Amino acid sequence: MTDNGPILVTGAAGQTGAVGRTVCGLLLDRGLPVRAMVRREDERAAALRAAGAEVVVGDLLEPGDVYRVVSGCRRVFFGMSVSAGYLEATVTMAVVAREVGVDAVVNMSQMTVSQMSIQNTTSSGQQRQHWLSEQVLAWSGLPVVTIRPTMFLESFFQLAAPAVRARGRIEVPFGRGKTSPVAATDVARVVAAVLADPGPHLGLIYELTGPRSQDMHGVAREFSDALNREITYSDIPAEDWERGIKKWGVPEHLTRHLVAMGELHRAGRYDRLADGVERLTGRPPMSVREFVSLHAEEFGGRRL
Ligand SMILES: NC(=O)c1ccc[n+]([C@@H]2O[C@H](COP(=O)([O-])OP(=O)(O)OC[C@H]3O[C@@H](n4cnc5c(N)ncnc54)[C@H](OP(=O)(O)O)[C@@H]3O)[C@@H](O)[C@H]2O)c1
Repeated sequence: MTDNGPILVTGAAGQTGAVGRTVCGLLLDRGLPVRAMVRREDERAAALRAAGAEVVVGDLLEPGDVYRVVSGCRRVFFGMSVSAGYLEATVTMAVVAREVGVDAVVNMSQMTVSQMSIQNTTSSGQQRQHWLSEQVLAWSGLPVVTIRPTMFLESFFQLAAPAVRARGRIEVPFGRGKTSPVAATDVARVVAAVLADPGPHLGLIYELTGPRSQDMHGVAREFSDALNREITYSDIPAEDWERGIKKWGVPEHLTRHLVAMGELHRAGRYDRLADGVERLTGRPPMSVREFVSLHAEEFGGRRL
């Protein structure tokens, strides 16, 4: 292990939540050396480099790449986009981190894992892989810190923004199920706090949610307040939701995951509250209203 080596951040380019990208910025702001792993050279890689990160290109499913990027690092943030090879990538990272020796691995998981066991699983392959990944990391003996956020507020860009812009409606099949989405930026602030000083956190699991759990009518009211126009919630049939997702042309793994997320919401399994964000960062998590205000243009703009 290198005591003063950089902190490796995987998934650093960023797609949905871009937790890795935000973590890179927060660590650089603290004056810590960052090695940012991306899948390809593009404008996102250039921006990371311009911000001061050492950018390395590699595939988390290629053991040789993973060995190359972990070597010389003292700590690792492991996260990547929802994908079919998630468990394989986690196991590869665990094998390499054991071989190289690091003083902390901060693992991105999901809050659903808190409710899972051998007898009680979900139909999402992603959630099953996170559950198995956590088991493997526990067996590995590595110094691990587990981050379990609930649904990201940033998911609304994909799941809600088009209908909010077009019809002033949030169209999701969540029934009367409550939800407490958390900002990926808050998740990143937690991850950065842990990476900066992992010692007190080793072996711990942090559950992260937004500040309140409410049904989608409540969420729609916060949208309305933020956009100064009426946004309503429309509980659509699960089949319409699945048909709509399939039209996006996303991989089957992600489709299955989003369909499962809808079912679990409907069943009340996203009705959660946890204080991880405030406990680790000293600041309360961002509300739906604050998030939508910050990104009003994406949701069709705020009425003056
Ligand atoms: N979205 C949610 O609501 C939610 C809620 C709780 C937990 N989570 C968890 O959060 C994680 C996703 O975090 P995020 O949204 O911050 O990720 P993200 O921004 O969607 O993706 C991070 C990066 O992973 C990279 N990547 C994918 N496959 C790779 C590979 N084989 N090798 C190297 N890089 C690869 C992608 O690169 P390219 O962009 O170049 O393809 C992407 O930029 C997942 O573990 C998910 O289960 C998500």
